[in-house]
Amino acid sequence: LTNLLGLEGLSADDISHILETAESMSEINARPIKKVPTLRGKLVVSFFYEPSTRTKTSFDVAAKRLSADSVSLSASTSSLTKGETLVDTAKNLEAMGPDLLIMRHSMSGAPHLLARHMNCSIINAGDGTHEHPSQGLLDMMTIKRNKGDFNGLNVSIIGDISHSRVARSDIIGLTTMGAKVRVYGPRTLLPPYVETLGAEVCDSMDHAVEDADVVMMLRVQKERLDDVLFPSLREYARCFGLSAQHLKKAKPDVIVMHPGPINRGVELAPDVADGPYSVILNQVENGVSVRMALLYLLVGQESA
Ligand code: CP
Repeated sequence: LTNLLGLEGLSADDISHILETAESMSEINARPIKKVPTLRGKLVVSFFYEPSTRTKTSFDVAAKRLSADSVSLSASTSSLTKGETLVDTAKNLEAMGPDLLIMRHSMSGAPHLLARHMNCSIINAGDGTHEHPSQGLLDMMTIKRNKGDFNGLNVSIIGDISHSRVARSDIIGLTTMGAKVRVYGPRTLLPPYVETLGAEVCDSMDHAVEDADVVMMLRVQKERLDDVLFPSLREYARCFGLSAQHLKKAKPDVIVMHPGPINRGVELAPDVADGPYSVILNQVENGVSVRMALLYLLVGQESA
């Protein structure tokens, strides 16, 4: 791997190798002293144009666990506010000699643009409505840990699919690994690409949840929904929100996932978010191991 811009184009072997490396990293995270010298002398720069709690913090934690030097820049405190372009900003950061740039941007394709202009490795930490590959990988690690294998697994992804970069990365990754992916949500928020990628579109909540091994709920992205015909949040919760009642139709050992942040009481009832089927905080925990694996695979192997 040189860059991780998306899960599109990765083979099942590529994904398995990343997940196996993440499992090795989880052993470091289970030790009393959770730090190894693997990336000593490497410089990791994070550049987030959109807010983040989980992704940014877990990449920072991952870099520290591997002893890399890490620095962060946010859009609001950078010279972007003075009109500097994205490429100029990135070229100036590159002049300081980073080995890796981790970038989140509201524009789909922004990390791909930088990859054409920069020599260091780039990880896409979420680009617009396109992809969020490290989230897709941590979701797959969480599913594999709970279910053992992807083959034939029924995974239902429910909510605002159109605006979800997580949904696209998950659908690509999970279908590549042999899972059967179903999607459900408001018709206006179901893009045509899902069927092209091999996902089945459901016509009701019951259909989506029936016999599911995994139910993944997506956040209603209020910040991206201004121009979309959309019911009120109360209507949304009634039609597309997951309740404990729905889960009675799923497999008895179903797991419930959500990439966060959760709109409690909208896409997910609080008793489900905090209930026995929820693995939402395990997703966050696995995110550190996956991001350690990505840092190691992109910039650490020659120093191992
Ligand atoms: N899942 C996710 O990307 O969360 P953050 O926006 O908090 O990084």
